Amino acid sequence: MVNIDDCPASSRATWLCRKQATFLADGIYNFTITASIAESIQMPAAIIAATLQDIHRREGAAFLAAHQRSRALAAETAPHFLYGVPLHWMHDWATPAPLFVREASGASFTCVDGHVYADFCLGDTGAMFGHSPAPVARAIAAQAARGLTTMLPSADAAEVGRLLAEKFALPFWQLATTASDANRYALRWARAVTGRRHIVVFDGCYHGTVDDTLVDLVDGVVQARASLLGQAHDVSQFTRVVDFNDLAALEAALADCQVACVITEPALTNIGMVLPEAGFLEGVRRLTQKYGSLLLIDETHTISSGPGGAARALGIQPDLLVIGKPIAGGLPCAVYGFTAALAERMLRARNAAPSGHSGIGTTLTANAMTMAALRANLAEVMTPAAYARMLPLAETLADGLRAAIARFSLPWSVTQIGARAEFQFSARPPRNGREAEAGFNPLLERVIHLYLLNRGVMITPFHNMTLVCPETGIEAVNLLLRVFEECLEEITRR
Ligand SMILES: Cc1ncc(COP(=O)(O)O)c(C=O)c1O
Repeated sequence: MVNIDDCPASSRATWLCRKQATFLADGIYNFTITASIAESIQMPAAIIAATLQDIHRREGAAFLAAHQRSRALAAETAPHFLYGVPLHWMHDWATPAPLFVREASGASFTCVDGHVYADFCLGDTGAMFGHSPAPVARAIAAQAARGLTTMLPSADAAEVGRLLAEKFALPFWQLATTASDANRYALRWARAVTGRRHIVVFDGCYHGTVDDTLVDLVDGVVQARASLLGQAHDVSQFTRVVDFNDLAALEAALADCQVACVITEPALTNIGMVLPEAGFLEGVRRLTQKYGSLLLIDETHTISSGPGGAARALGIQPDLLVIGKPIAGGLPCAVYGFTAALAERMLRARNAAPSGHSGIGTTLTANAMTMAALRANLAEVMTPAAYARMLPLAETLADGLRAAIARFSLPWSVTQIGARAEFQFSARPPRNGREAEAGFNPLLERVIHLYLLNRGVMITPFHNMTLVCPETGIEAVNLLLRVFEECLEEITRR
């Protein structure tokens, strides 16, 4: 049994999310939420922790009863995989056993027990344009027989470069295999060209497994994130952390002209959603220019806002821009773009360095298969027409969530950025990462997620994010809203 008292006070909510599961020898996860955990979390007056625990137990049992094939696979998988899954994150879901997928298509997937789910997680954005978009599937099938990887540019490169430049208004591009890698490389270039070692991140950020960004502001002090494993280097050494929406703090962090780069999403999306206040991103751009720091905008999640990303929609021109996850329709791929001025500086830095390892790039990056998928996705899937379907539906969803929350007088808020909408357990939308984290409530979150899942609706396991893809239908949105209301009805019943 996991003990709440082992939890570092600074990150209790996050810690709770990860540690509630006890792995049993038969490969099944047994989620145990102790009374002390439930009591340690602030519940809205309308919700009683004991009721939540009862519902949680009931829903866990219902899930296990309905997923015999998943349970059998879990038992077969457990002897060979840590936590019984090929990536340990896959056991962070609200389910009491891993849910094994038979197939996924468009806006839904089917589990190995034959249940169909309306998918509002969409691979946490990897499938934001739907599962296996037809043009991408065709391109992959065609390329598969013509070579997968050669470490040479394929004939698709020229058109991919043209499409990226057109979509994101930046002339030069490089590829990486994941958004984590793209951010890592972009920061390395930024340090190389500026000769500065420090970077700035916003508290509550997530840019993938980039060591220097895995830091928190704890009582005003930069600290390595408490959950980091195996961290030998002091990742706080060259990273300054400021609150999102705080331009004065940002200016103080930049003023000594030691900062190579500010890296940010246009809105924080990984600690729940935190939108930029009016003028904030413009201020970030102005201050970075004033102090000679580069601005890296990570659009990996906020590409939900429109075809060119959120920064472009706001008229912000970054020096560097990163997008991963859905950019090649769900294959491992990320891209980073940069201005002509920066490209010149990058060439100078590279040419001035001795030949040898640059610390940038991986062998399979930009392989022929990925390039074919990327080209098809950019040209035929990430289209204005796709967004024209997604955005109004996401708005309907966000409005519906708000109406349900209002109906039960819960002190929660809903934030939307394009196709992405999120309900948060705070009365007003948070202004920064700290406010967002204060609203975390793992028990409540787990109950809602599991309740939805048992009724055919999947949302993202980390906080309460929903994502709409071009193939999502109004029926799926209505199903989510109906089940969400039923859940609220039950958890507020006395
Ligand atoms: C904004 C942002 N950047 C980068 C990443 C890292 O993506 P990946 O895990 O594909 O490397 C994530 C992952 O959630 C993200 O949300």
